[in-house]
Amino acid sequence: PVLVVDFGAQYAQLIARRVREAQVYSEVVPHTASVDEILARDPAAIILSGGPSSAYAEGAPGMDPALANAGVPVFGICYGFHLLVQALGGTVEATGVREYGRTDMRVLGDGGRLHDGLPTAHQVWMSHGDSATKAPEGATVTASTDGAPVAAFENVAQRTAGVQYHPEVAHSPHGQEVLRRFLHEIAGIRPQWTTSSIVDEQIAKIRDQVGTGRAICALSGGVDSAVAATLVQRAIGDRLTCVFVDHGLLRSGERAQVERDFVAATGVNLVTVDARERFLSALAGVTDPEQKRKIIGREFIEVFEQSARELTAQGDYDFLVQGTLYPDVVESGGGADAANIKSHHNVGGLPEDLRFQLVEPLRALFKDEVRRVGLELGLPETIVHRQPFPGPGLGIRVIGEVTQDRLDTLRAADAIAREELTAAGLDRDIWQCPVVLLADVRSVGVQGDGRTYGHPVVLRPVSSEDAMTADWTRLPYDVLERISTRITNEVAEVNRVTLDVTSKPPGTIEWE
Ligand code: XMP
Repeated sequence: PVLVVDFGAQYAQLIARRVREAQVYSEVVPHTASVDEILARDPAAIILSGGPSSAYAEGAPGMDPALANAGVPVFGICYGFHLLVQALGGTVEATGVREYGRTDMRVLGDGGRLHDGLPTAHQVWMSHGDSATKAPEGATVTASTDGAPVAAFENVAQRTAGVQYHPEVAHSPHGQEVLRRFLHEIAGIRPQWTTSSIVDEQIAKIRDQVGTGRAICALSGGVDSAVAATLVQRAIGDRLTCVFVDHGLLRSGERAQVERDFVAATGVNLVTVDARERFLSALAGVTDPEQKRKIIGREFIEVFEQSARELTAQGDYDFLVQGTLYPDVVESGGGADAANIKSHHNVGGLPEDLRFQLVEPLRALFKDEVRRVGLELGLPETIVHRQPFPGPGLGIRVIGEVTQDRLDTLRAADAIAREELTAAGLDRDIWQCPVVLLADVRSVGVQGDGRTYGHPVVLRPVSSEDAMTADWTRLPYDVLERISTRITNEVAEVNRVTLDVTSKPPGTIEWE
């Protein structure tokens, strides 16, 4: 793999994704890994990520110069660029000239391998206080800015290079090309990480791990569990059984999407457990959001456990399939057994007598790769490009106590909003659009000749990259109008539609 050494910037995972977009497999390693540990992975190249703004700051992480001199191709970015320049004999100084954000850069001479043919003056994204004032011995300086005399250097014979700017962000329009040239042309790595190679590799790995055994998978209706299950099904066929728990907190059509569309696309063995009554009675009288989450999580595990017991009574199921993704693995320390149990759909707390080995075919993949694998495996678009939907479902979108009537009302309003957003072609522009029922709030309205006393719903359309931060989506007024008119006409209990215009932070995406 290409190893991205993470110096504590939020950009390391993004760099790894960009490397993979250049069809080269890549992983993130912490900067605390020793040179021996890193070299033991036999990296095809090493990329040093950005990090704190100054190498002179208190406690700033350093780098063993041996890493830069091990004969492995190395590329430095921002802070990693400073560390690389120093390790190779150049100079980095706190010049007092800072550059943040969009910056004009000049390509020098012929631009070298990395910048040859790019516009002589172009924009890059900068974020630095210190600057390299002297390039490493034997290296060529190929770009500069007002604040960074050495904005890029390369030494093709030594297979080292670096840039002061952030090539991984979209604000550096030629950044991906520069990364690609480093990987393919300077490091000499062949682009072989493709969706079909991922599928073949994962299927072979699953066959290896499961042998002639049997596996269980809990489907949530979301893309991760669907793709994980499909890969396992391709590998072991009928020896996989999927369990789908209908907790009654699903949106309109979601059960059918799993029972009909997913099964049609994959031919997977599916057991649906109808647990709607059970969840409703467990939620009776509960209004606190965290309490709701706990109850839904607990009930889910109990229901899943029950069906796992029934299945294991019929045959030996030794394996449990989980849709753990690479970002979870990195964030939980990246160790081999560091599966991070985030939502209740990752069934982590199973009792001792149900001891499964985990099969995690998505452990090495980013979300966009999972979607591409899903399409490659022939899953329907509706599943592959489904927007995020929380595990506790509509349970945390009925503000107040969850009852059957309230769920039905919310489901109807939500279905209309989704229909209209899809019809307007906006699904890919928004991250998700929760529809929230203010079940304990009443509002006065007028309909025909009569006064109504119903409930408001809130539309919460958001745009986001990763749900950590979000902005409210500026939906076209005519789309808002259609949603509002239809909901108030078609859903009897709702007489008011409101729009949430709060970014995150300070708001969260969900209301509860
Ligand atoms: P918030 O509301 O925290 O949501 O801004 C961020 C993202 O996470 C989803 N979400 C959840 N997903 N279980 C889940 O599986 C939960 O309890 C949960 N709460 C929020 C939310 O839909 C958004 O995509």
